[in-house]
Amino acid sequence: MNTPLTKNKKLLAWVEEMARLCRPDRIHWCDGSEQENTDLCDMMVKAGTFTRLNSDKRPGCFLARSHPSDVARVEDRTFICSRNKDDAGPTNHWADPDEMRRKMQSLFDGCMAGRTLYVIPFAMGPLDSPICKIGIELTDSAYVVVNMRIMTRMGQAALDKLGDNGAFIPCLHSVGAPLKPGQADVSWPCEPDPAKKYIVHFLEEPSIWSYGSGYGGNALLGKKCLALRIASVVARKEGWLAEHMLILCVTSPEGRKHYVAAAFPSACGKTNLAMMQPSLPGWSVRCIGDDIAWMRVGDDGRLYAMNPESGFFGVAPGTSNNSNPNAMSTVARNTIFTNVALKPDGDVWWEDMGVPTPAQAIDWQGQAWTPDCGRKAAHPNARFTAPAVQCPVIDPEWQNPAGVPISAFLFGGRRASVAPLVAEAFSWEHGVFMGASAGSETTAAALHQAGVLRRDPFAMLPFCGYHMGDYLAHWLSFVRRTDRSKLPKIFYVNWFRKSGDGRWLWPGFGENSRVLKWVCERVEGTGSAVELPIGLLPSTMALDMTGLDIRPENMEELLRVDAGEWSKEADDAAAYFGQYGAKLPDALMGELEALKRRLSQAK
Ligand code: OXD
Ligand code: MN
Repeated sequence: MNTPLTKNKKLLAWVEEMARLCRPDRIHWCDGSEQENTDLCDMMVKAGTFTRLNSDKRPGCFLARSHPSDVARVEDRTFICSRNKDDAGPTNHWADPDEMRRKMQSLFDGCMAGRTLYVIPFAMGPLDSPICKIGIELTDSAYVVVNMRIMTRMGQAALDKLGDNGAFIPCLHSVGAPLKPGQADVSWPCEPDPAKKYIVHFLEEPSIWSYGSGYGGNALLGKKCLALRIASVVARKEGWLAEHMLILCVTSPEGRKHYVAAAFPSACGKTNLAMMQPSLPGWSVRCIGDDIAWMRVGDDGRLYAMNPESGFFGVAPGTSNNSNPNAMSTVARNTIFTNVALKPDGDVWWEDMGVPTPAQAIDWQGQAWTPDCGRKAAHPNARFTAPAVQCPVIDPEWQNPAGVPISAFLFGGRRASVAPLVAEAFSWEHGVFMGASAGSETTAAALHQAGVLRRDPFAMLPFCGYHMGDYLAHWLSFVRRTDRSKLPKIFYVNWFRKSGDGRWLWPGFGENSRVLKWVCERVEGTGSAVELPIGLLPSTMALDMTGLDIRPENMEELLRVDAGEWSKEADDAAAYFGQYGAKLPDALMGELEALKRRLSQAK
């Protein structure tokens, strides 16, 4: 063991206790230094976990290939343990904390044999933020260490912030693959049986125990586990919000700035929107974060947001100079790629990268690949892990401990029909109703059937650590926490509407700046809107369409609201809300009734 880098007694005692349970061969306290990172990467190259990429093409970059059973978040193996089952609510997998603790104790017993236990101190949020939280992840995966170094403020600075007596959130992680004496390791150790993977959250402690997976949100415990599931519970208690939202700053040609936060389910283009290059001349977008926002009411009564992370864990396939040129620049160096393809020249490739398809490559499973082989070269959920500072459009305020004041929220998802391009809520309560009833056609970010409509309130379905009814009530409570006029305006957007013959109606990407412009105008009180039963929509002339050639009938379809379709939508949302029982806030029932009334008047 290297010397512990802290005098915090609670932390020292916990590390000792967990080491006794997991029985690693060694303990390494991570300081987060450049040298430590280099040593770990070199070690992983030797072990076959990492392939060093061609340093002329991708300096400081590595490729990892996961085990084929370990490629995405495992939502059906994600558990919320609370003393009272009702606290977890119907959208979470609840488990009894005592039983689960026993189960975890037996799984973790000796699980790090033959391996090193890494102690990763990390901070979520700028260290001086009033809501910055310190976590300590213990893991037997060096891959997790080097990813956490990008995704969080990791190392000595986090320990210094913790001090001798500070509190931390304990996060225990193991790939679940102990080594017998002399047993050779594999390049991606994990528990291959999906039924033996566990991502467990103990709400009351709080603590996180993750077993069996080395991938993404299952293993980088600062992200979904701490910054969303546990933080959502803490935020409710402390009166703030932990959300699955990107944060961006949009600036008009006249220099007027608005900060916007947007919630879309996984793999619906949050990273693309967060770093967008607006097609509208003179407009600019800067990125504060692409996945998570922590927000609190500031002294002036406005809602301030900060990004608790310090890197991007983005979906690679589909990322190109067309969809997201700023992400392409961000991943040009010092980036870890997982499950993409390797070209003969030592660079990476993935589907829809916008560059010529290589004649041959090594696919994400390490097999020889050619374009006609019938398989994808990159896994659809292949990822890049890249430092936020490398983003060419990172906002100068992105590390401001006070956060940035939010002017508007966007909710949305993938909807091939029904939902128009954009609609503004009539009020905060109506906006909460919009977020609560949001739905999306599923993607590859989690292991489930792709392409079916799943309701995903606030894009938080897999990430809200407590009862969704209580969560909605918490959102509604903000009208009592501050002056309602200071709260952000709320919008619902849908970039994914299709024509009857299955073609996208809206080009998306940089063209979404046209919608952002209207949003800014609505915030400033200048943009015009028409009142429809589902909300306020831009009148035909209100969206700036300069330089974009969209046929009038397509534009009409993009903004069409069909009272019949929406009545079905309202019935479906009502049925979905039914599961919240008595915890469904009355205000949302009221919004549903009001929507139905408006729709029946429109028919
Ligand atoms: C993510 C996700 O990785 O939402 O951000 O799945
Ligand atoms: Mn996400």
